[in-house]
Amino acid sequence: MQNDIALFSELCDAIFEAETNQPVAKPIPTSELYQQLDLSLNNDGIIDDELKIILKDVIKSTPKTASKSFFNQLFGGRIGKAALGDLIAVLLNNSMYTYKVAGPQVGIEKQVLKSICHLAGYSNDSDGTLAPGGSISNMMALIMARDHKNKSIRAEGLLNSMTLYTSRESHYSISKNAALTGIGRNHVRLVNTNAKGEMLTEHLDELIKKDINDGYKPFFVNATAGTTVLGAFDDIVAISKVCKKYKLWLHVDGAYCGGVIFSNLYKHLVNGLELSDSFSVNAHKMLGTPLSCSVIVTQHREQLHHSFSNEADYLYQTDGDDYNLGKTSLQCGRRNDALKLWTLWKSVGTKGLEKIVDKQFEMAKIARDYINEHKDYTLYSFNDSISICFNYKGITANELCTALYENSELLVGFGKFEENEFVRMVTINTELEKEDILAFFKTIESFVSAHLLNLSAS
Ligand SMILES: Cc1ncc(COP(=O)(O)O)c(C=O)c1O
Repeated sequence: MQNDIALFSELCDAIFEAETNQPVAKPIPTSELYQQLDLSLNNDGIIDDELKIILKDVIKSTPKTASKSFFNQLFGGRIGKAALGDLIAVLLNNSMYTYKVAGPQVGIEKQVLKSICHLAGYSNDSDGTLAPGGSISNMMALIMARDHKNKSIRAEGLLNSMTLYTSRESHYSISKNAALTGIGRNHVRLVNTNAKGEMLTEHLDELIKKDINDGYKPFFVNATAGTTVLGAFDDIVAISKVCKKYKLWLHVDGAYCGGVIFSNLYKHLVNGLELSDSFSVNAHKMLGTPLSCSVIVTQHREQLHHSFSNEADYLYQTDGDDYNLGKTSLQCGRRNDALKLWTLWKSVGTKGLEKIVDKQFEMAKIARDYINEHKDYTLYSFNDSISICFNYKGITANELCTALYENSELLVGFGKFEENEFVRMVTINTELEKEDILAFFKTIESFVSAHLLNLSAS
């Protein structure tokens, strides 16, 4: 193992060097992937020196999500103390299902959950768990809501047509989860949004009323704190009134921007969160931990247990349910995702996490201001969002983003809202500074002026 630690350290240097020298790795066309890299698996193994060469090649060609040229997704950057926690978790290799095999790591996870419940304004009777990602956190919320509506579903399966509600701008996992949990995609009602991409509560009410009249059983509403494309926040207070009226479970999907609970400046964006039944937040997005670190909490501790516990004599042999976390998780064997968030939180404090979140909004404002001040740009997103959606000189967003990628200039993606397609730049990497944001725009401008003839206007 000592040799491998030394090798790891050398490879870390290779990663850091590649990030600096070539922040956007030269993409390998999929048709050439296996010709360019030795990815084969063979009967005989190889010596360390050969392995090192291959690993360095793979590292060189792998997209660098921690670089300052990565704006493509809703994660990015690298925070040392969080990475440290994850590396320790890998070496310790505990499974979080029992206190017997995870010991104090259970206490760490429970502390993270308790502190998040507290920030969400949840009562002392709340609880939660960590899921493999925001999609699965949403699924766990949906399962709790389904079982809460009818306690016999866990044993009998679905007997009625149950319907759920989410905005057109919400994440695709809501529909996918409806298919996975027996609810059915056709029982997902997409609620219209206003011009800023926020759910229209009147439409929600109409859809529910119609379903009740038609004999369906509404049970679940998903509100989004930071929609995937525009970064819009649904009005939780207004939605919770509708949920109360019809006795529906309210989940707040904060995978993208639920991290605002750490910020005194921005927590107003999730006003009313304490009125929700469950809330999920991805620390691997706004809080900058490595993938994946998704937290789901609920005000219904009993429901979490009811929906996810299962007796297993061969597993639960010591300690009570409170410390055997497998009784409230989706998986059986489960990696320790809490430690990276705890290490970060412990080292920078809640105030440090607040700074991490605020910085992203500050950088987003710099980007929006730049766009507003330059007439060749059109802005499509709004204040209080870290998604900056724009077009440049009317160039088709798809074409521009693809050309920037193929030429190793920038990794940035595109999105759509209503009839507009645009570049979506995300300021989620907390290490970005004003000069990095300006460099992003300068790169686009120089690239377009050099390649303009090859790009078509939309
Ligand atoms: C609003 C929202 N919910 C859920 C998810 C899914 O999270 P994950 O990728 O961790 O499954 C995303 C991902 O971008 C998201 O934007």
